[in-house]
Amino acid sequence: MSSSLQEDIKKLKNEKNAIILAHNYQPKEIQEIADFLGDSLELCIKATEIKDKDLVIFCGVDFMAETAYILNPDKKIVIPDIEAECPMANMLPEEELLKSIEENPDSKVVLYINSVAKSKQHADTLCTSANAVKVVNSLDSDKILFGPDSNLAKHVSEKINNKEIKPTPKDGHCYVHRLFSVEDIQLKRKEHPHAEIICHPECNIDVQEMSDQVLSTGGMLKYIAESDNDEFVIGTEIDMITRINREIPGKKIYPLLEGAICKTMKLHTLEKVKKALESEEPQIKLPKHICEKSLKAVKNMLDVS
Ligand code: 13P
Ligand code: SF4
Repeated sequence: MSSSLQEDIKKLKNEKNAIILAHNYQPKEIQEIADFLGDSLELCIKATEIKDKDLVIFCGVDFMAETAYILNPDKKIVIPDIEAECPMANMLPEEELLKSIEENPDSKVVLYINSVAKSKQHADTLCTSANAVKVVNSLDSDKILFGPDSNLAKHVSEKINNKEIKPTPKDGHCYVHRLFSVEDIQLKRKEHPHAEIICHPECNIDVQEMSDQVLSTGGMLKYIAESDNDEFVIGTEIDMITRINREIPGKKIYPLLEGAICKTMKLHTLEKVKKALESEEPQIKLPKHICEKSLKAVKNMLDVS
């Protein structure tokens, strides 16, 4: 049953011809008012299909809303809480990337979409956890500079053996996915011997190696929906389980770790969404030249997705 705040949001959304896009890690009450929920790639693709909307409310972290802006620089892209940043994206500032590029002049540059716009403008292409292997495989170079997530870089290296994949920086990571350990997997295997363990490629490589599947959040949803198995342990942010339970009832879903919470994803609240719809602020804005250069990298990724 929706709350009166959710009803107000729905009414305002219609009046303003707005669309609410939300990442899979948003809490239940935000998932319930979203027009579209998805992983980073699905949200990026959706952002290419919103020409008829006057206002976009983006419930996710900064790099996701920025990518929507890069694709739609003439649209109002509003993020309910401007502090909703992804710390991993900030681990590869532009100066550091430029230094790595200078040191590796023969490499193609693949940046995880979880990167700052200033760095994105220097990438040959972007990737997400859903398409990283496909994107790297599509490049005609056998030397790849890959950042900022070193675990995703290792995941790709394990799947592709004819390319040298160099992480930049060496230890870029997500603090949430780093929480999962081999001990957590061992414990869950004992507690739920019939469950399949699915983790995200941002997890440490030993955790990935001990899991049954390594998938993006969108990949997890699809895999579980199509599987005959009815028990799963999920190694990613806790609210991914909220989405799975809402859309695939009847399966038993256990967290690999209860405390895997992305704090900045939780900054958005219904109150802030309502305020964002009313005030059309705070808006995402990026300099024109950064948008134009980054757009090429975004489009190159979408071309192979
Ligand atoms: P997905 O693209 O798989 O949803 O991952 C986004 C993210 O930030 C994971 O921490
Ligand atoms: Fe960034 Fe990690 Fe949060 Fe994903 S879960 S948005 S990578 S901090």
